[in-house]
Amino acid sequence: MKKPGKSGASQGAGGARALKTRIKKKSGLKNSSRRWLERHLNDPYVHRSKAEGYRSRAAFKLIEIDDKHKLLKPGQRVIDLGAAPGGWLQVAAARVKSPEDAPTVVGIDYLGVDPVPGSTILEMDFLDEGAPARLMEALGGAPDLVLSDMAAPTTGHRRTDHIRTMHLCEVAADFAISVLKPGGHFLAKTFQGGTEGGLLDLLKRNFRTVHHVKPPASRDESVELYILAKDFKGKPDGDDQSTE
Ligand SMILES: C[S@@+](CC[C@H](N)C(=O)[O-])C[C@H]1O[C@@H](n2cnc3c(N)ncnc32)[C@H](O)[C@@H]1O
Repeated sequence: MKKPGKSGASQGAGGARALKTRIKKKSGLKNSSRRWLERHLNDPYVHRSKAEGYRSRAAFKLIEIDDKHKLLKPGQRVIDLGAAPGGWLQVAAARVKSPEDAPTVVGIDYLGVDPVPGSTILEMDFLDEGAPARLMEALGGAPDLVLSDMAAPTTGHRRTDHIRTMHLCEVAADFAISVLKPGGHFLAKTFQGGTEGGLLDLLKRNFRTVHHVKPPASRDESVELYILAKDFKGKPDGDDQSTE
């Protein structure tokens, strides 16, 4: 596989191909599968990820968010929750210039991830009791950035999928608040209408700015959204930090 560009500079998905690939109706595929395949084959981000050596089109979401909000800087420590297949790890490791012999980027996923130079990858469920300690041990110091692109496996029932992914986002936020360096940032996948109530209050109490971001690489028709909480205030002693 081609090595990704060092900085992963963003130019938008630009240069969308003029010729649209169409799958014949007689292809034997169900209509929904045919539409998915057509969209995939015509997606400029899919073409760019192949051309630039990224493992996922999701890599461009982090590239676009980082180009705008300047989160990743050389020398930082980063945790990436829900890292497979490794697109965000590639971007983070390149942008913080994580050394291959002493990585400062650690990812976790219960799915296997092929090695990404400059990162340590844990194959385990982030919801396992022991996961936070394993992540911190692998990182060797407080992170500057906690990223989460975790999404629960889809069940086909939209509301259930939504609730499960929001739960992952809440657990990720609790984790970020308990481990981040003061001044650190938290970026996590959420859903439109999802980050309300307890979670939003918790983030606003603990970070100087909190807002939602929708990078161009996140499809318009998708309800996916990211929450970006910047400048962690640090842990006040004895404050109850939970979302409960
Ligand atoms: C959208 S993908 C991440 C894509 C990744 N950011 C990239 O650029 O390649 C979401 C990932 O979250 C992972 N995930 C979901 N729940 C998880 C959990 N409890 N623990 C660890 N990983 C989880 C899934 O296995 C999946 O690989």
